[in-house]
Amino acid sequence: MTPLAQLRRVNRHVRDLVTGWDNEQLTTQYHPDLSPMGWHIGHTAVVEAYWVCEVVGRSPLPDDVKRLYFPETSPRNDRGAQLPSPGRLFSFCDQLQTDVQRRAHSLSVHDHELLRDDYLWHFLNQHHWQHVEIMQQVRHQRALREHTPREVSSRARARAPCLPTIRVPGSRLNVGSADANAFDNECPPHVPALTAFLVSARPATNAEYLRFIHAGGYDTPAYWDPEGWAWRLKKNVQTPLHWRRTGNGAFYTVEIGGPAPLAEDLPVSGLSRYEATAFARYAGCRLPHEHEWERAARLGLLEETGKVWEWCANTLYAYPGFQPFPYERYSLPWLDGRHYVLRGGSVHTDACLRRPSFRNFYTADKRHVFAGVRLVQD
Ligand code: AVJ
Ligand code: FE
Repeated sequence: MTPLAQLRRVNRHVRDLVTGWDNEQLTTQYHPDLSPMGWHIGHTAVVEAYWVCEVVGRSPLPDDVKRLYFPETSPRNDRGAQLPSPGRLFSFCDQLQTDVQRRAHSLSVHDHELLRDDYLWHFLNQHHWQHVEIMQQVRHQRALREHTPREVSSRARARAPCLPTIRVPGSRLNVGSADANAFDNECPPHVPALTAFLVSARPATNAEYLRFIHAGGYDTPAYWDPEGWAWRLKKNVQTPLHWRRTGNGAFYTVEIGGPAPLAEDLPVSGLSRYEATAFARYAGCRLPHEHEWERAARLGLLEETGKVWEWCANTLYAYPGFQPFPYERYSLPWLDGRHYVLRGGSVHTDACLRRPSFRNFYTADKRHVFAGVRLVQD
């Protein structure tokens, strides 16, 4: 598929996600960290038009459009109230996307440096697919708000954690990417020193996390970082984000499609990094450094990747020689020592983002990002 066809495809996908959504639903903020669905629709179209029409094509977008749909000038809690009606929003986006496609056909690689190696098209495609995943987070939060509590028969049994048994040698191996399509935070590739370690074949499952709950994991401060324990008390967290209890105390989950039995063998998700850390300590293990994860992934040692994001030990940092592109705010503001790296990908992550070097990042308290945990040991 040509890069332009890929862009049309992701744009269709974005639009399909809100089929049947009314104005109320499109403008509702279902989670304090998530913009309303309608904003994501406008944001993806405006970001695309900004780069293609304004930056490359030198036809500036109106200031009020940029003010609303660029995150840095648009307070999240005001976004819903500022959105146009669904009909106007969709036709506005259609116009922008048609203009982008029309201009794209008459562009030559020499018109702008961002067009080299189709960089801009791959950047936009990957940007939009990340918003698709965020829109799945919104759908999940909507399902959580709207579901009717009900009895879901759930016979999930607890199981001991899958301990790290796969030895990863301390050889030198590349991390990062030299690929033209990589994001700035994956560059430049380099060869850090790393000692041997043990890693689990797969991420912890629901059954394993159930054992942690039964063992009093949420009530044992020794398993938690002090900051994590304070968070656990303040938010009164006692299960992963989307677990609920039936009348007889059994657990079920609320998925995008509604309530479902707890699936013993699926990787646990809905964990903050605080919970992931507590679970790892309960199991006598720790979280992987992102280099450890990447090395094990490149050696083909990891199973069941791409079902849940996997919290890492370290915060997002600049690789030696890091240069921000295509804009400062893509990664630079998040190199603040508070955003932790997640690796792998969830069931909602498109193939174009599933690579050993891809770095996702969120603060430790985020539980809505389809994240779980894989254990490692020295
Ligand atoms: C890498 C998923 C944390 O959601 O802010 C989307 C991706 N950057 N638009 C985010 C992103 C700009 C980013 N995450
Ligand atoms: Fe964005």
